[in-house]
Amino acid sequence: MTAFFISLLFLLSGTAAHVINPNHHPKCLVPNRVSTSTIPLFHVHSPCSAFRPPDSLSWEHTVLELQAQDNLRLEQLTRTRPTAKKSVVPLAPGRQIIQSPTYIARVQIGTPAQVMLMAIDTSNDMAWVPCLACVGCSSPVVFDNSKSSTFASLGCQAAQCQQAPTSTCSGSSCIFNMTYGGSSLAASLSQDVLTVATDAITGYTFGCIQKATGTSLPPQGLLGLGRGSLSLPSQSQNLYQSTFSYCLPSPKSTNFSGSLRLGPVGQPKRIKSTPLLKNPVRPSLYYVNLLGIRVGSKVVNIPASALAFNTTNGGGTIFDSGTVYTRLVAPAYAAVRDEFRRRMRNANVTSLGGFDTCYTVPIAAPTMTLIFEGMNVTLPAENLLIHSTAGSITCLAMAGAPDNVNSVVNVIASMQQQNHRVLIDVPNSRLGVARETCS
Ligand SMILES: *[C@@H]1O[C@H](CO)[C@@H](O)[C@H](O)[C@H]1NC(C)=O
Ligand SMILES: *[C@@H]1O[C@H](CO)[C@@H](O)[C@H](O)[C@H]1NC(C)=O
Ligand SMILES: *[C@@H]1O[C@H](CO)[C@@H](O)[C@H](O)[C@H]1NC(C)=O
Ligand SMILES: *[C@@H]1O[C@H](CO)[C@@H](O)[C@H](O)[C@H]1NC(C)=O
Ligand SMILES: *[C@@H]1O[C@H](CO)[C@@H](O)[C@H](O)[C@H]1NC(C)=O
Repeated sequence: MTAFFISLLFLLSGTAAHVINPNHHPKCLVPNRVSTSTIPLFHVHSPCSAFRPPDSLSWEHTVLELQAQDNLRLEQLTRTRPTAKKSVVPLAPGRQIIQSPTYIARVQIGTPAQVMLMAIDTSNDMAWVPCLACVGCSSPVVFDNSKSSTFASLGCQAAQCQQAPTSTCSGSSCIFNMTYGGSSLAASLSQDVLTVATDAITGYTFGCIQKATGTSLPPQGLLGLGRGSLSLPSQSQNLYQSTFSYCLPSPKSTNFSGSLRLGPVGQPKRIKSTPLLKNPVRPSLYYVNLLGIRVGSKVVNIPASALAFNTTNGGGTIFDSGTVYTRLVAPAYAAVRDEFRRRMRNANVTSLGGFDTCYTVPIAAPTMTLIFEGMNVTLPAENLLIHSTAGSITCLAMAGAPDNVNSVVNVIASMQQQNHRVLIDVPNSRLGVARETCS
């Protein structure tokens, strides 16, 4: 009888539910999957996350850390070509908490399967996980490749070695080196079975991290969902036809209805959509055509060049799951912000870190409509404003893009996508958006 119960418990914990972090919240029992090919997503700061920063950190600290991390991310996303000199971004000293993009999915790697809680990233292609012998990895949970019967290292001759970022040969194995946020990693290019929800993808190419520096790598690895050849949508094309959707829950949510749904089956049938564009300057990113922005009832005056899709300089607008707060190029942000402030009448404006439109009195914010080609998305206040826990300050949760030569990309970030289903449909070249409560 006891043996029966133990095996039943084992069965339950192995297949039906998985506790992310029992120390944080009694409700944090997570289903493995919502249905076939759908896996739950949770925010890295959610009360259920094993990666939640200490509660002692203030709201301002967390918000400003996230925004600082956005700056590094934008610098990397908008870099045209990685250069050896610029590839290591200096870190602020004394940064203790691990800041990583921002939504985590539970997947399994190897045979027998090892569970990894990997960050998803729609603007990067590669997957990588900390491996057993990693120097400088922060996670106690690492992938033990020696225990997987299906694991293989890829040699320098493998076609994937040419597609991986800045790859080199070490002996006969293919090593690649890349920066991510303020960190850098060196990984050996490898293959193993990747299991997402109930689907096993054999021979999945990913990086087995051998060495890491800095503290901004997601501790249990990254799963790239970008457009490039080594991303999950590309490597699982036979299974999922480069089609997926996601709904990002709020960071405060203990309700695990955030999800990543892979493949054309089960996607919303009627969803408003805009053409999905491919920009050869930044081939990993999901571009769309943003035509204008309405604040309340007024379409603000943004110079067309600030929004133009441009295949020469990489300009345009992307959807990104890893940037937290939407960034608009300077003239676009100025126009939006000025109209927003105008609608706040006489309220005094103050700033908080990189947010320049904050109020210490209660405000009634206007809605904002993103006008895409063929699709308008109206964002309610919950997608526009951040409030301090004490309620003493409220800020418009957007900012101008960092001021450099590459700042030609507008980024629709995760805070503005929360509680929406975003559908990426590469074969039909469309990106769909629908309101969906998943917090
Ligand atoms: C990646 O390469 C750069 C430049 O060669 C080097 O400085 C850095 O230490 C490498 N990163 C790792 C984690 O090995
Ligand atoms: C959790 O999400 C479901 C589905 O969206 C919703 O019906 C339910 O009310 C939510 N529960 C809480 C406690 O927010
Ligand atoms: C694209 O950007 C280039 C370089 O900034 C510029 O010369 C060109 O006019 C732009 N093209 C369009 C269609 O805006
Ligand atoms: C704005 O700030 C100024 C200076 O602190 C103060 O005199 C004024 O009353 C404030 N206005 C409002 C509407 O709160
Ligand atoms: C989006 O909003 C703009 C400005 O209000 C309007 O002109 C346009 O027709 C709308 N487009 C769609 C697809 O609803």
